[in-house]
Amino acid sequence: MENKRGSFGSKFGVVAAVAGSAVGLGNIWRFPYIAGENGGAVFIIVYLLICLLIAIPVMISEFAIGRHGRKNVMGSMRQVAKGKMWLSLGYLGVFAAVLILSFYSVIAGWTLNFIVESVKGFSGMDVTALTANFNGFVNSNEPIVWTLLFLALTAVIVLCGVEKGIERSSKIMMPMLVLMLLGMSIYSLFLPGFGEAFRFLFKPDFSKMTWDVVLQALGQSFFSMSVGMGTMITYGSYIKDKENLYGVGATVALSDVLIAFLAGVAIFPAVFTFGIAPTSGSELVFLTLPSVFSQIPAGQLLSFVFFVLLFFAAITSAISLLEVPVAYLTEEFNIKRKWAVVMGFVVIGALSVFCTLSLQDGSSLVVGGDSLFDFFDKFTSNIMLPVGGILVSVFVGWFMDKKLRYDQFTNQGQCAVKLYKFLVFLVKFVVPVAISILFISKNLF
Ligand code: PFF
Repeated sequence: MENKRGSFGSKFGVVAAVAGSAVGLGNIWRFPYIAGENGGAVFIIVYLLICLLIAIPVMISEFAIGRHGRKNVMGSMRQVAKGKMWLSLGYLGVFAAVLILSFYSVIAGWTLNFIVESVKGFSGMDVTALTANFNGFVNSNEPIVWTLLFLALTAVIVLCGVEKGIERSSKIMMPMLVLMLLGMSIYSLFLPGFGEAFRFLFKPDFSKMTWDVVLQALGQSFFSMSVGMGTMITYGSYIKDKENLYGVGATVALSDVLIAFLAGVAIFPAVFTFGIAPTSGSELVFLTLPSVFSQIPAGQLLSFVFFVLLFFAAITSAISLLEVPVAYLTEEFNIKRKWAVVMGFVVIGALSVFCTLSLQDGSSLVVGGDSLFDFFDKFTSNIMLPVGGILVSVFVGWFMDKKLRYDQFTNQGQCAVKLYKFLVFLVKFVVPVAISILFISKNLF
């Protein structure tokens, strides 16, 4: 039964919106540098396995909860679960969304600045000059303005609602993004550093394999697929009854992984061509690509296109993050959508300003040796999302009404029937056990 809430109108719309949430800075900004810091090919192998065996089942489980509950994270949990305990998943989700969007907006703000910078052009600047330029920018107060501008744009789209705002914008932006990234990757194939990049990305060195690499891969897969915190419960609540949840999940996961790979192929040849360290961290994309753009004929135009692409990717994900607290406030407290958006903007805006400031040299906004920005990033990806993943899988695997689970996973026996048992096995055993083992062996850090 569909109710009067918004819903995604078409199949393409669902996939575009869900993929829009999944594909974002996580693929193009985070994946290359986390892969770079964790040994390249080894990380990628572990990452693929985790996506397939852990993240996809969690995504489908979240869809199932949301589509049955037809409410925000909290409301949906209340519909499907007995007892207050499971509401903790709802609180965790809303909290994680707020924290993630607070640091996410900072990077998204950088992309807005780089769109403007690329109009001016990077020509004649080598890596040293670009690094100095970037450090000057991060240490100024300019990023605050860009961060808040990005958040304001996100708020406007969310204000327009599910079908007109989220679905429509994703349908236009997602295909453009894929095309632009494809073009960039083809270009990179011809750079001199391609051979080295290829070895780095695809030739595993198993001596680099540690528990930390596995935990990072887990965190990255959850972050990249937007699972473990209720975004997919919220989006699941907008998916119509006739859509095949497994199909949507698998299509989105495949696009997500392919786009992260494309980003790797676009970025690493340049990293090796221009002698940038693959382990240079969160600024990797912002140093690497301008280095390429400064040296090639149509560099200025390409650079503009690339940062617009990154901005598209970021905003389709940011709207899904903001939608979590907004749906929660409107449905649980009867607050008008407009005011819920304003409240989200104010709280997240304030936190994001602190995140921005924490990246400045000598900032005292430090938690456990990390800048507030890095702390939010690591805490959400490596702890909150996996814990959310355990809660979702334990609930769907062991506590959800069996008939209800079967009906949601298979559309009352109409699709994915053969896969059902295997999916339930993954959700019941593999996901919670694997994540718990990881946590224990890593000793929580
Ligand atoms: N998946 C997004 C990305 O890869 O950039 C980030 C994200 C969006 C994480 C939504 C979590 C989320 F709920």
